[in-house]
Formats: sequence, structure tokens, C-alpha cells
Amino acid sequence: MIYLDHNATTPVDSRVLEAMLPYLKNFYGNASGLYKLGRLSRTTVDTARQQVAGLVGVSADQVIFTSGGTEANNLALTSLDPAAGLAVSAIEHPSILEPAERLHRQGHPLTILGVDPDGLVRQNSLDEVIRSRKPALVSIMLANNETGVIQDVARHAERLRAQNIVLHTDAVQAAGKIPVDFKALGVQLLSLSSHKLYGPKGAGALIFEKGVKLSPLLLGGGQEQNYRSGTENVAAIVGFGKAAELAKAELAQRSEQLAGLKTRLETGLRSIPGLHIFSQNAPRLPNTVQFGLPNVDGEMLLMKLDRQGIAVSSGSACASGGKEPSYVLTAMGVDPVLARSAIRISLGISNTPEQITRFIEILQTLVNQEG
Ligand SMILES: Cc1ncc(COP(=O)(O)O)c(C=O)c1O
Repeated sequence: MIYLDHNATTPVDSRVLEAMLPYLKNFYGNASGLYKLGRLSRTTVDTARQQVAGLVGVSADQVIFTSGGTEANNLALTSLDPAAGLAVSAIEHPSILEPAERLHRQGHPLTILGVDPDGLVRQNSLDEVIRSRKPALVSIMLANNETGVIQDVARHAERLRAQNIVLHTDAVQAAGKIPVDFKALGVQLLSLSSHKLYGPKGAGALIFEKGVKLSPLLLGGGQEQNYRSGTENVAAIVGFGKAAELAKAELAQRSEQLAGLKTRLETGLRSIPGLHIFSQNAPRLPNTVQFGLPNVDGEMLLMKLDRQGIAVSSGSACASGGKEPSYVLTAMGVDPVLARSAIRISLGISNTPEQITRFIEILQTLVNQEG
């Protein structure tokens, strides 16, 4: 199989699995236990906390472990002042859009920030929000899961901070692919997910600036500084920590390797007549390419590629299976017919140049059959 859907999820790195196994087999202690087995789990969780903190340049007590990116995003939105409004970009992951809409139904003013044809948040829509509505919380993702577009979060953060507006960024797709430094970004809240950076599924984190008020989604035993109750998923947290440590240590090498593969991929794609690469003028992740082919049904093409042993996505994993064109491309003003043909390729560190060449050959054959 040629797996080209790493933005949906990544395989667990063998070194990560190795680190996790003892906590699934032998060291099963509850991290709250006061005896040796419990203390061992506690120490291990603390080590993982430092590893995750290290990935984004914060101190360990700024890390709240969650069940993944979805929970981290939901938790971030609880920082909203009960009387205030919020603004989120139109291309956020559903784990931001859905809770934002719920808050809106509960009476909070909600502004959706528009994006330009390349998928970058429009400066004037942010200006307008600051001027007229003055929301207490803004959420703008660092990198988009479909197009790979990287937003100028540091610039937005500087402007919003000057107005005392909290900025949350969803860095789930960015972490491990580009440098992500919490302080340099200047945000107050940042979400991460383990399974997008070769860690296990079911672990993530919300990074917070001290002083930002959060309201826990889960109440109970008071774990995670009372922000997230529930017995810690020690093995998954260990895996997340190890994956974060490796992502930091290998970042330069990984992004260079991915960029090389992406160049090869895009050169091949451009040889296909009529093919359009979305957001090609915007800064993008080194691993993500989304393209459209006029008059081709993206879902059909995806299934034909699957029959050839190639795994790709027609957009975000959650959007797949639906007949509607991607809301991300729609927000960018892409023609619905072209948007319905969209295919997203997201490369990973075990992909090879030969796999890319093979993918292009197969794609060319399938497209010629359509024509
Ligand atoms: C940008 C973005 N945010 C959040 C999530 C959700 O993360 P998780 O799968 O860990 O809940 C995803 C997953 O697809 C994502 O791509």
C-alpha cells in the first residue's frame, strides 16, 4: 500500500511503541496512587509532560493532557467570558466550528472570519471584528488540514493581544512539520494531537498561558490541575511524549525530506493537463498538497486509487463520504464543481520518492481513462 493520508493520521513510530509497551504490560499503576507502582506512572506522565512542553517551548505546568485535538479545541473555547463574543475562521476544524456554533446558539455573538482565495484569513475581516464586535476570544488555526495553508498567527496574535483579546490556535497539523513555538507565536492557547505526529491516537494537549481562565469540560478527580479530570491514559501519554521528543529532535530532517517529496509530487501533478493545486500561492506545510481536476469526481477517483492500493483523502477525513464540496474550499471561493474533484495528498516520513513516482503514474492512467 502507498499511504498518502498522514493528515488523517500517522502510523505509530516503532520507537514510540517501544516506549509505550511497558505501560501496557507491566506498569499499570494509577498515576494518583501513592505506592511505588502509582508513583512510577506519575513520574512517567511528568516526563511526557516535559517532552510535550519542549516541543512548543513552554514549561511543563502549561500542558493539559486531553484525549486528543478535538478535546483540546473544545476546552480552549471554554476560556470564553460568559458575556462575551467569539470569532473563528471559516476554515477551522469542526472541533472548533461546532462548539463555536453551540456557544452562538447559547447567546454569544459569533463572527466567522473569511479567507481569501488562497485560504489565508482576511486581514480586513479581523480588523472589522476588532473594531465592531470586540470578541473576547478568537480562534485561528496555524495550519489547515486540507490545504496545508499556514496562517500568520504571530502577526494576528500581536494585534489581538494589544486589544486584550485571547487568541487560540489549533496547531494539530503544524506540530512536527514546522517549528511551533508558543511564545514566538504569541498566542494564549494552543492545541496539539499525538496521532498526527507518529504518536498513538487518543492523546493530545491544550497548552495555556498562565492566567487564562479555562472551565473544565470533565469534572471528577481533579487530575491535570483540575482542568481535565479522569485517570490518565498513561501509555498513550508516554507515547505522545516520546513522539513529541522525536518530532522536535528530527524536525529539520523531517521537513526537508517532506519538502523534497512534495516538490517531486507537485512536478508530477503539474504534468497532468488542467490539474489545479489549491492555495499554491500561500505558505503551506511541507507535506500537504490538495488538488482538483475539472470534470473529475473526487470520491470516484479516491476509490479507484484505493483499488490500486493508494490511500488518499478527498478533503478532511470528517468531510469524506459526504456529497457536499469541502467547506474549506467553498470558503476560499473555489468553484463547487472543481471543489468536488478535490484530492488531498498528505505525505509522511516513511514515504519514498519511488512511491511518489508510482502514484503519479497511476493517477495519470486513471485520469486518461476518465478523459
Ligand atoms: C486541524 C485539526 N484539528 C483538530 C483535529 C482533531 O484531532 P483529534 O483527531 O486528535 O481529535 C484534527 C484531526 O483531523 C485536525 O486536522
